[in-house]
Amino acid sequence: MPSNYSLPPFRIKMVEPIRLISSQERSQKMIEAGYNPFALLSEDVFIDLLTDSGTGAMSHFQWAALMMGDEAYAGSASYFRLERVVKEITGYGFVMPAHQGRGAEQVVIPQLVRHPGMVFISNMHFDTTRAHVELAGAHAVDTACPECLDLPHFHPFKGNFDLSKLEKAILDYGRENVAGIILTVTNNAVGGQPVSMENIKKVCEIAHRFQIKTIIDGARYAENAFFIQQREPGYQNRSIMEIVREMFDYADVFLMSAKKDGLVNIGGLIAIKEDRELFQKCQTYIVPMEGFPTYGGLAGRDMDALAVGLKEALDIDYLRYRIDEVRYLGDRLREAGIPIQYPTGGHAVFVDCGAMCPQIPYDEFPAVAVSNELYLEGGIRAVEIGSLLMGRDPETRKNRKSDMELMRLTIPRRTYTLQHLDYVAECLKKVYDRRQEIRGLEFTYEAPVLRHFTSRFRPKN
Ligand SMILES: Cc1ncc(COP(=O)(O)O)c(C=O)c1O
Repeated sequence: MPSNYSLPPFRIKMVEPIRLISSQERSQKMIEAGYNPFALLSEDVFIDLLTDSGTGAMSHFQWAALMMGDEAYAGSASYFRLERVVKEITGYGFVMPAHQGRGAEQVVIPQLVRHPGMVFISNMHFDTTRAHVELAGAHAVDTACPECLDLPHFHPFKGNFDLSKLEKAILDYGRENVAGIILTVTNNAVGGQPVSMENIKKVCEIAHRFQIKTIIDGARYAENAFFIQQREPGYQNRSIMEIVREMFDYADVFLMSAKKDGLVNIGGLIAIKEDRELFQKCQTYIVPMEGFPTYGGLAGRDMDALAVGLKEALDIDYLRYRIDEVRYLGDRLREAGIPIQYPTGGHAVFVDCGAMCPQIPYDEFPAVAVSNELYLEGGIRAVEIGSLLMGRDPETRKNRKSDMELMRLTIPRRTYTLQHLDYVAECLKKVYDRRQEIRGLEFTYEAPVLRHFTSRFRPKN
């Protein structure tokens, strides 16, 4: 291994066997799945890079903590252990668990919508966040910086907001119609790209000037803090904990899918800085939606594992290794000339399938076609982030065209070795070499909503 990648700060003491089925079997499984990777069975996948959400490995400290779970319906000791850790990390006054990120969203987002026609503004809404904004009767407006669309060129903080677009959006919609500003850190949809501290600070200054609440959608806040430490002037000598505290100091609310930087297989969090009224509204609402406020849809043992995982994810050795394994795969692909979102972000390598297969039009889903080839080549499952995911315009029913046709190779935490990643790079190189032969897809069944999960396809002739 080249020496400029960090070594894993752990050794393996439990293994889960995986198996590569034959090439013939893979072809058959692909047909049975209707050419949709979501429909493949896990047992037919060799290396699963569909998501980093809830797919990581827990430490022995977390497994030990599970045994301490207090399964009381109300007032569980596990809740208080979790609350202590979340308060220490965020400095916020109020904490509630949720079953996962979207659970936290469904509780908090409707409380911020005061009248019809309101908007949330974000650098980029994650898809479930967008769905909850819309379910609450509001609109989701994205104001990502233009650098995120310039895939091959380095920019240290491609996850940033475009500040002038943000201010213009507030003025255009009117401050009284903005329900909240959502800072997605890291910015998943554009490649797990980080948001700089300067940008976070300025976004929050703008929000406070207009008296708008700021919400950190922080599934990967620890990875974001690591990038700030590595790339932003003035932060090299600050600890990850100090950086994280500064991020939270600027904002008002924290929503988290703990399945990422909580290092657990299930869990979510709501933390509110000081708005007691908002907290009380959420407390009332969480009961029918997620559960009593001291468990919010989680078992006591889940809360204990999360309390430990949150601290482990802030460990600098862990973060260095984590970000480096993603960079390692990105570097191997770039060496082979495969176009990716550069630099790599925190949780995944995003391959530019629009550039790789220009012969496939957007509405024949180039990134799904490449993902399928990667499965056929090596039993590797990836996911499309492109025009299939975008769906259709609700009025015209036309396919929406994504700005980028990306295949996301998402790296679960503490799960695969660099040998596995070398294999992924080898397989993708073979697919890249035959890229001109790859054909697009057409629907045999198109699901009416969230179509990427359950639609079925066949290759175009
Ligand atoms: C930025 C972001 N927000 C929210 C969510 C939703 O979280 P969950 O999948 O735990 O419901 C995700 C999940 O991937 C995410 O990446």
